Amino acid sequence: AVTRTFSIIKPDATRRNLTGAVTKMLEEAGLRVVASKRLQLSQEQAEGFYAVHKERPFFGELVSFMTSGPVVVQVLEGEDAVKRNRDIMGATNPKDAAEGTIRKELAESIEANTVHGSDSEENAAIEIDFFFKADEIVG
Ligand code: CMP
Repeated sequence: AVTRTFSIIKPDATRRNLTGAVTKMLEEAGLRVVASKRLQLSQEQAEGFYAVHKERPFFGELVSFMTSGPVVVQVLEGEDAVKRNRDIMGATNPKDAAEGTIRKELAESIEANTVHGSDSEENAAIEIDFFFKADEIVG
């Protein structure tokens, strides 16, 4: 079925002017950008978005990295979008990511790993809601 997922192009990528390169890989994987905006996340927004990770040892660094520069938040649409996006992103740690994936080709480290993507359809809906109003998404 055609479904939606949520993506973030992270500060390591915007810093290196890779917004287009990342988006091209998403599009070539069969995903369509149906909403997009560039934002500077506040500390409160980053903490709220990553609240599920708040007990993790890397939480503070994650929030400081995600607020270190602009991000581009996107809604992606396509056949089986959550899985399709996870496949093209590759493993969280670029050292473990498969050839041809965004993180293998572009990521710097497990933290500066270029993209975030929802891990389930349920979380996709929550994450899309966190950043977008319904009328900002044009399919
Ligand atoms: P993301 O998919 O955005 O979700 C949580 C993020 O935490 C993850 O990608 C990584 O960028 C970041 N992170 C930093 N350190 C770690 C770690 N040791 N294990 C997992 N994720 C980490």
